[in-house]
Amino acid sequence: MVTTFQTSDRIGDIVAKFPKAGEIFRKNNIDYCCGGNRSLAVAIKEQNLDERILLDKLNSTYQKALNLETEEKDWLTEPLADLIDHIVNKHHTYLKTTLPALSELVTTILRVHGAKHHELRRVHKLFHTLKMDLEQHLITEEEVLFPMIKDYEKSKSRDLLGKISATIDELEGEHENAGDILKELRSITTNYTTPEDACPTYDKAYKTMEEVEGDIFNHIHLENNILHKRIGQLLH
Ligand SMILES: [Fe+2]
Ligand SMILES: [Fe+2]
Repeated sequence: MVTTFQTSDRIGDIVAKFPKAGEIFRKNNIDYCCGGNRSLAVAIKEQNLDERILLDKLNSTYQKALNLETEEKDWLTEPLADLIDHIVNKHHTYLKTTLPALSELVTTILRVHGAKHHELRRVHKLFHTLKMDLEQHLITEEEVLFPMIKDYEKSKSRDLLGKISATIDELEGEHENAGDILKELRSITTNYTTPEDACPTYDKAYKTMEEVEGDIFNHIHLENNILHKRIGQLLH
C-alpha cells in the first residue's frame, strides 16, 4: 500500500489533495475546515483516535480512488474562476434551496415536540442564526469577493489583491462562527439522534441538518484551504 499521507501532514492539505478524506475526518469528528491548519497528529491526539487505524484507512481509501482513476478536478491548479463557479453551483445553490426547507421542518418540530423536548427551542434558535448568517455570507461572496477574484485573475492588479485579502479575513471569521454553531447543534442534538417518540418530520429535520453540516464542511474547506490559500500565495 502506498503511504501517501503522514501524521505530520496538515489536515487541510490532505483534504485538498484528496477530497474524500473529508468523509473519513467527519466520521471521526476531525474538523478539517476551520481546523485545517493543524497537523493530523494533533487532531488524532485531541480525538483520542488510533493513529495506525486512521492512517491505514486514509491511505487505503486514497489508493482505491487512484485505482478507480476518478475524475475529480484538481482545484489546486484549475483557474480560480472555475473553482468559484463550482463553489457557487454546488454549495451555494444547495444552501439556498435546503436552508428554507429545513427552516420549515425545524419550526414544525418545535411546535409539535417542543413541550416535551426542550432542547428544540435552542435548536430552532441556533439553526435560524446560522441560516441568516450564511445567507448574508453568501451574498458577500457572490457580490463582493468572487467578482473581485475573477477581476484579479484577468487584470492581476496588486491593489485589488489587497482588497481581496481584507475581505477574505472577514469571511474566514464568519466561517469560524458557522463552525461554532454547527458544533453546538451537533452537541445538543447528541449527534443528530432523534428520540424514540420522534415523528418522520423530526427524523427528516435531523437527517437534513446533518447533511447540511457535511456540505458546509466541504464548502468551507474549498474556500479556506484552497481558494483563500491560493490567493494568500499570490500575495508573497
Ligand atoms: Fe461560499
Ligand atoms: Fe464562505
